[in-house]
Amino acid sequence: MKRVFSGIQPTGIPHLGNYLGAIRNWVALQADHECIFCLVDLHAITVWQNPADLREQTRQQTAVLLASGIDPVGQILFNQSAVSAHARLAWIFNCVARLGWLNRMTQFKDKAGKDRENHSAGLYVYPNLMAADIMAYKATRVPVGDDQRQHIELANDIAQKFNHDYGVEFFQTIEAFVPPEAARVMSLRDGTKKMSKSDASAQSRIDMTDDADTIALKVRRAKTDPEPLPCAAEGLEGRPEARNLVGLYAVLSGMNVDQVLTQHGGEGFGPFKQALADVLISRIEPIANETRRLLADTAHLDTVLREGAARAGAIAEPIVSEVEKIVGFLK
Ligand code: TYM
Repeated sequence: MKRVFSGIQPTGIPHLGNYLGAIRNWVALQADHECIFCLVDLHAITVWQNPADLREQTRQQTAVLLASGIDPVGQILFNQSAVSAHARLAWIFNCVARLGWLNRMTQFKDKAGKDRENHSAGLYVYPNLMAADIMAYKATRVPVGDDQRQHIELANDIAQKFNHDYGVEFFQTIEAFVPPEAARVMSLRDGTKKMSKSDASAQSRIDMTDDADTIALKVRRAKTDPEPLPCAAEGLEGRPEARNLVGLYAVLSGMNVDQVLTQHGGEGFGPFKQALADVLISRIEPIANETRRLLADTAHLDTVLREGAARAGAIAEPIVSEVEKIVGFLK
């Protein structure tokens, strides 16, 4: 059975992009994989996090994941800092990865922008930690959204260089599992920008804890263009907002884009947005309600994470110990 690893930053409430691009596939992969899912709090502090908020958001993310259908008993769910193997392997990978490789990471460039000198060293070496997360478990399948592809390629480069430098065949190649649809959910305010927790406008994203009225309002206010919907997929060319909304409707209703356009082509955005709000609400509302119920019992959430960390550590510890021996650390 293939081992799956994936992570999400506990830096805010998971949004529809996180859900459709990643979490939904995590849930599906549980049926026939051994899965390890991680709240990556070490990654979170690469940008400033208020400590009390970080604690609360870690629990909130845990609740959303459980409410979405992650099985913490059959699979493993834990927070990264509770298993020290991640940080130990990340340090070794810091010494394997080349600066030139990190300089090419588009996500660092996007996040740091022009103010590069003022960002943490952690943000820069963030992809090395991500590689360590996966390799510490010798996981081979990594379900992620499109924005993480480059980091997975880098993880493979690091693993290959490690094997080469130390003359071993220790790490295997890993494979990004990016869904064919909704791999890049776009902002509701700008169809050329991805939906993101860090967008200043809450109207740009749908949070997995939004209630029905909030979802309906955000969809009604979503940016569109003045044309009616086209009757075929080619007609979405150059219409990023329309493409995003149609794509969302398709994935949520289990249709392909052409089927959606056969049904709704020629319609104005008013009725289409109503239909989209309905499918969104029917998918998100039960998750939001279950999240609220789970959040009432933080002791239970903490126990889930603690037990998950013990089981994760039992897998990662011997693997990372072996890496340390390969490197030449006296043990
Ligand atoms: P993070 O927390 O930014 O996002 C979690 C997951 O959600 C996906 N995602 C999206 N998918 C589609 N459309 C969007 N607008 C959208 N926004 C986010 C992301 O691709 C991701 O799969 N570095 C990672 C976390 C991480 C990780 C790992 C992932 C740390 N270690 C090891 C895999 C394996 C991140 O910041 O994800």
